[in-house]
Amino acid sequence: MALRTSSGAQYARLMGVGGYRPRRVVDNAEIVTYIDSSDEWIRTRSGITERRWASPDETIQMMSVAAARKAIERAGIEPGQVDTVIVSTVTHLIQTPAIATTIATELGAQGAAAFDINAACAGFCYMVAMADALVRAGSSKYVVVIGVERLTDLTDIHDRSTAFIFADGAGAAVIGPSDVPAIGPVVWGSDGEQADLITQTEPWDTAIPRHERGGPDPVAQAAAVADDPEGSAAATWPVLRMNGNPVFKWASYAMAKTAAEAMDAAGITPEELEVFVPHQANNRITDAMFRALKLPEGVVIARDIVHHGNTSAASIPLAIETLLESGEARSGQTALTIGFGAGLVYAGQVITLP
Ligand SMILES: CC(C)(COP(=O)(O)OP(=O)(O)OC[C@H]1O[C@@H](n2cnc3c(N)ncnc32)[C@H](O)[C@@H]1OP(=O)(O)O)[C@@H](O)C(=O)NCCC(=O)NCCS
Repeated sequence: MALRTSSGAQYARLMGVGGYRPRRVVDNAEIVTYIDSSDEWIRTRSGITERRWASPDETIQMMSVAAARKAIERAGIEPGQVDTVIVSTVTHLIQTPAIATTIATELGAQGAAAFDINAACAGFCYMVAMADALVRAGSSKYVVVIGVERLTDLTDIHDRSTAFIFADGAGAAVIGPSDVPAIGPVVWGSDGEQADLITQTEPWDTAIPRHERGGPDPVAQAAAVADDPEGSAAATWPVLRMNGNPVFKWASYAMAKTAAEAMDAAGITPEELEVFVPHQANNRITDAMFRALKLPEGVVIARDIVHHGNTSAASIPLAIETLLESGEARSGQTALTIGFGAGLVYAGQVITLP
């Protein structure tokens, strides 16, 4: 007996993007009150002049819904037509359930398949690859992908290597069927040997007083409580630590190669590329990739980092929205996206802008 299998649209495309940027603007003058640095150093070494930090009411849920609503409206579909919601985040601080389910419900995509992924700053490109495959396989018709972070929840503001970089925000896209090719093959991968370059310092259970901690061993847990009835051992809140320089070198060189492979896989030459949207990690990484890829001078380059810092999974869709809203880039143009970050993980693909 042969099983029936699904098949979907011949092609998929990005139908709309939307973003949410937190209200609070934090400039370099404020940052240098927390770390030993200067506005000049931050601007010349990273490109950042200011970033957005989320306030308590700008939660992962709230920012995601705001970004996704815009993307759905721009895609010209109804929320009820969305049949899959994927969220990429490293800063949803509750492990279970996935935040994607409550986001889907609040959006009005009741009953949609919904799940979270963790692919750090490559999250958006990972989700585009998955959504493209879901639509073409017939598993979904309209997929909402959301990259969302409150990196400041996991930032040590006194850490010189991360305090000026990390920021908050959400960026979403709707991916659905297309009559023409509009999402090139993904080139993606990981390198767990370099997992320690960007990590959370502590597991979550260190963030609660010792006598309240859960753990895999209830007997040891009971003994810990007996030892420390008041929970006097200070709780430590986990933060993200980054060994910036090796990440910088890896991103500048290895990622240019990945980006070149993505163009090659899509069958386009650097001369045919119109827009370049790398993950917004550092303007100098963007410059190094631009040179290594030998992109023509006229290519529009995303520089969203200048005003929004590094928002991890949200950075690429936010940068696309900025380019489209400012008129620097137009719908229908051919863009190269490449994301890279903690894992290490990476993914790149050529897309047609919505
Ligand atoms: C973080 C980053 C901007 C630092 O830039 P860098 O050129 O690598 O800087 P280094 O760490 O080599 O430090 C160079 C000097 O600046 C100093 N420095 C480091 N941080 C500083 C800061 N915030 N302010 C002022 N000086 C600083 C260092 O002490 C060092 O001084 P020295 O030369 O006297 O020893 C850069 O490494 C980077 O962007 N990394 C990648 C980030 C990224 O891509 N993340 C992606 C995944 S999220």
